[in-house]
Amino acid sequence: MTQVIEKKPGLDKLKNTKIIFVVGGPGSGKGTQCERIVQKYGFTHLSTGDLLREAVQSKSERGEQLNALMKQGKLVPIEVVLDLLKENMIKNADKSKGFLIDGYPREIPQAKKFEELIAPCNLVLYVKASDDTMTKRLLHRGQTSGRVDDNEETIKQRLKTFHDQTFPVLDLYEKQGKLAEVNSELAPDDVFTEVRAVLDKVA
Ligand code: AP5
Ligand code: MG
Repeated sequence: MTQVIEKKPGLDKLKNTKIIFVVGGPGSGKGTQCERIVQKYGFTHLSTGDLLREAVQSKSERGEQLNALMKQGKLVPIEVVLDLLKENMIKNADKSKGFLIDGYPREIPQAKKFEELIAPCNLVLYVKASDDTMTKRLLHRGQTSGRVDDNEETIKQRLKTFHDQTFPVLDLYEKQGKLAEVNSELAPDDVFTEVRAVLDKVA
């Protein structure tokens, strides 16, 4: 199937915007660190997972399809996630100090398409934790989160998707010298100390 991804008017405004991708496995602590980053550096935080969950709320047929994929721990189609990002980046372009894009790119085509249509990223922050740690965190969060994907079966599939599809993205940016890794096995504030050391160089 050919994927048609349209260029939107307004994208030119984003050519010189600072762009930081935040990548990491399920439950690695991307959202937790992004909250702290926003407080300190004032970037605009866009989490593709959060944007997709908002889209699911619409109760449309499309929303149901997205929810089904998320429930299976699979990636949603690239055009859906890129459209959401484009729309929200354009909306914030005039007032943003830069974008913190959480949970994207998760596969090589997402990295390539974003750079082709919008702009190259300045940095990729890899929030790294072991599968065991991530699983424990998500099972614990699952007791109260109400998320359709915080259960044992889906967590296994989310980890598999991360290993199979997102690891190559880490390699891609490592080769470009844009990847910075933080140890998310530590307590959140200690992880943030590492994050600050990285971001102070680009903020
Ligand atoms: P998304 O919502 O992005 O989920 P995820 O990547 O699986 O990760 P989470 O958001 O659950 O975890 P997180 O890393 O933000 O960790 P958090 O800070 O919350 O995506 C969901 C789904 O949407 C995907 O599976 C896919 O279907 C779809 N999707 C999303 N983006 C897509 C894309 N680009 N393309 C295609 N499909 C896409 O922390 C987790 C827990 O751990 C919390 O309880 C937290 O309090 C705790 N915690 C965090 N840090 C620490 C720490 N240092 N020590 C102790 N506990 C900690
Ligand atoms: Mg998150």
